Amino acid sequence: QAPTRHEAENAAVSQGTVESNHAGFSGTGFVNYDNVAGGYVEFVVNAPSAGTASIVLRYANGTTTNRPMTIAVNGTSLTRDFPGTGAWSTWASTTITAPVNAGANTIRATATTAGGGPNLDYAEV
Ligand code: GCU
Ligand code: CA
Repeated sequence: QAPTRHEAENAAVSQGTVESNHAGFSGTGFVNYDNVAGGYVEFVVNAPSAGTASIVLRYANGTTTNRPMTIAVNGTSLTRDFPGTGAWSTWASTTITAPVNAGANTIRATATTAGGGPNLDYAEV
């Protein structure tokens, strides 16, 4: 099953804004999380069948400080580090695996520290 790309700028955003001022993003922009804990981007993704999915998150962090986030898939969460990528225009990917249901699944990436999340480009599932 080829992955489907879900652009962050088309997802549900709380405490963040869609921007396009750092090059290299996919689609029309990325989400800039506010510099607070608790902001999130939530994707609804369709899975053809139940099983274990690989979820690729593409991000940039132009600081030298980790911006960890909780990644919740259908409400079950894990914490993932989003360390500095060297520049806001340098994008990197991190992959998680999680169980998914056939049909709609919710993936929410929530900033957990006062710095907020990294800039988020997309999720591929
Ligand atoms: C800068 C940068 C933003 C980034 C922000 C941050 O303002 O331009 O894209 O989100 O730093 O530190 O979170
Ligand atoms: Ca930000």
